[in-house]
Order: sequence, then structure tokens, then C-alpha cells
Amino acid sequence: MICSPSFLSSDFSKLESEIKSISNAKWLHFDVMDGKFVDNKTYNHKMLKKIKKYSNQIFDCHLMIENPEKFYEDYAKNGANIITFHIEATKNVHQLIEKIKKLDVKVGISIKPDTKVETLKPYLKDLDLILIMSVEPGKGGQSFMPSSLDKIAYLNSERKLNKYDYLIEVDGGINLENAKRVKDVGCDIIVVGSFIFNNKNRKAIIEELENV
Ligand code: DX5
Ligand code: ZN
Repeated sequence: MICSPSFLSSDFSKLESEIKSISNAKWLHFDVMDGKFVDNKTYNHKMLKKIKKYSNQIFDCHLMIENPEKFYEDYAKNGANIITFHIEATKNVHQLIEKIKKLDVKVGISIKPDTKVETLKPYLKDLDLILIMSVEPGKGGQSFMPSSLDKIAYLNSERKLNKYDYLIEVDGGINLENAKRVKDVGCDIIVVGSFIFNNKNRKAIIEELENV
């Protein structure tokens, strides 16, 4: 499995060394929060520009923001390789998918725990990635919600049935125990924040997570 570390739980006062401490991860997860779609406010596209100076990882941008159609270009311009927006945050989903693709950036949709996975059905054929939230979006360090397992299994069977090629990513409360559970039902990418950043040997933890 691919591990996409979320540095939301890192020490922002020494960001360069924090990012270097997870340099063996091929992906890097940006948790963008605007204080409107979720109560918390973190950072915007300027964080991508800053980190681009010392990382050549795949920039996996999770936009927990209202009206992503207004801001997606800022992320594309500042180095996003994947832009994932929340289906609950916009009315023109098809349009936004096409607009992001036109910028030669991979496009993903994320759903909150209370959103039914079937709401994604009309978009599955067009997506590069689906991000299943296994915690309520807004902060790191929460506990994994097992209800996400059925959503991953559903997406995995839809993918097989229709020969879709989207990646399935899960985000929130992931550790070694539940990384195996999500992999067994078809997950490809795990977003991991506090389980990595609370550990002193982060590179070893990433290795272990990728080989569950
Ligand atoms: C929550 C974020 C998650 C979270 C992951 O809104 O989207 O990426 O920070 O962190 P942990 O692994 O600590 O739940
Ligand atoms: Zn996230």
C-alpha cells in the first residue's frame, strides 16, 4: 500500500526537518482547512509553494474548503499532483472534475463519514481517486471509524465490476492494526498523521505501514 503522511500533527515550527523525517514516503498529504467547511483553519496553497522547496513527493491535496471551484487553480499552480475536493462542498461536481483534469492534475472526491458512498456513483467513471474519511474531517488524532470499511469494499467491487481505474484512499485514525483491515477490503492509499508523527522512528513506521 502507499502511505500518504499527513503533517497536520507535525511541529510546524520546524517544518523542514519534520518533512525530511518522512522523506521515504512517496506521497505527502496536505490537509487544507478553511474554517468554514470544517471549524479548523490550517493553511492554503502557499504551504505547497513552501514545501516544494524541500520535497519532491507526490502532493496529495485534501481540500476541506467551501466552494473548491473558486480555489482549485491556486493548488494546481503551486504544485498539487492530486486535488481532492469534498462532494458536500460544491454543487457542480461534474464541471469541477473536468476543470481540474484540464490542468493536468489528478482529481479526487472525498466523502465525510455521514455521506452515503452511493452518492459517488455518477462520478466514478471520471475519477482518479476517492478519499473515504474514516474520521470527521477537521483534526488529526481521532479514532478510526469502522463504517468506512463497507464504503471501501463497495468502491472496490464497483471498480472491478465496471473496470474503473480510480485509486481508493482512506483518511483518519489509521494505525498498523486498521491499515491491514482497510487493505483487505481494497484500499490502495492510507493517509496517516498522528500514528507517524507520534513515533520517533517515522521512516520505519512508514515502511511497516506500506508492507502490512
Ligand atoms: C482530518 C484530516 C486527516 C487527519 C489524519 O481532517 O483529513 O488527514 O489529519 O490524521 P490522523 O492520522 O492523526 O487521524
Ligand atoms: Zn486529510
